Amino acid sequence: MDDVLQNIMDHAVAVAREAGQVVREALCDEKQRDVMTKSSTVDLVTQTDQRVEHLIIQSVKKKFPTHRFIGEESVAAGEACVLTDDPTWIIDPIDGTTNFVHSFPFVAVSIGFSVDKKIQFGVEGKGAFCNGEPLQVSDQEDVRRSIIATEFGSNRETETVEKIFSSLRNILNIPVHGVRGAGTAAVNMCLVASGCVEAYYEVGVHVWDVAAGSVIVEEAGGVLMDVEGGPVDLMSRRIVAANNGTVAHIVKEIDAFSPTRDDAPPTQ
Ligand code: IPD
Ligand code: CA
Ligand code: CA
Ligand code: CA
Repeated sequence: MDDVLQNIMDHAVAVAREAGQVVREALCDEKQRDVMTKSSTVDLVTQTDQRVEHLIIQSVKKKFPTHRFIGEESVAAGEACVLTDDPTWIIDPIDGTTNFVHSFPFVAVSIGFSVDKKIQFGVEGKGAFCNGEPLQVSDQEDVRRSIIATEFGSNRETETVEKIFSSLRNILNIPVHGVRGAGTAAVNMCLVASGCVEAYYEVGVHVWDVAAGSVIVEEAGGVLMDVEGGPVDLMSRRIVAANNGTVAHIVKEIDAFSPTRDDAPPTQ
């Protein structure tokens, strides 16, 4: 890694730790968990989400004034979200807001950095590490001995819910050892990277949910795929992140569907 990128990554780690401390304190303080809703009654946001995103963006702007940002709480509703070739920070201030609101203790501050539309690091790059310890995906090749992670997202349209359950039924029928969901895409991806979950898939994620996690999974030896097979597109709002042994089997069982792309023009 060159010095410029190293400098950027060091700043990302420092600001992620600072943001993490704010989130940790807020988790213990009910006043900081005031709930507001966005697109629906199950799409939640709090002042802490907004405050943490503001903190990260201001801190980065001071040091790298020309860099661009895609932040979950700064993208206006209905606005097209475009990833360009410019150096871009892709930020999810609290991944797992529903967990946060309920004091369910799994949340992440997720920061990815891209250049030429390619994610350079997800807070730590060139190998994936958790507090300095290297991460490695599971070497389990038998999907029947696997734990699969997925989420239900916040889309409650009948057709979407049916697709989610149809995929889940297929996966359970393999049968796998278990299905789990941490309530945050970033944590699910880190569980894949650390080898205790073989695969994670979800339709409906945004680029800020998966940017950082995608590079962490790959650096830990895992693979990313689209839910219909083929290369993943982080703007496509669907992803499979898995070890090599289970990815093909999981892709086969997903009853795929396509939400609107992140960069699609807003609908009227
Ligand atoms: C959500 C979480 C959740 C996933 C949703 C995401 P948020 O992010 O990652 O696990 O199912 O698709 O939107 O809103 O808590 O940042
Ligand atoms: Ca959200
Ligand atoms: Ca998120
Ligand atoms: Ca979020």
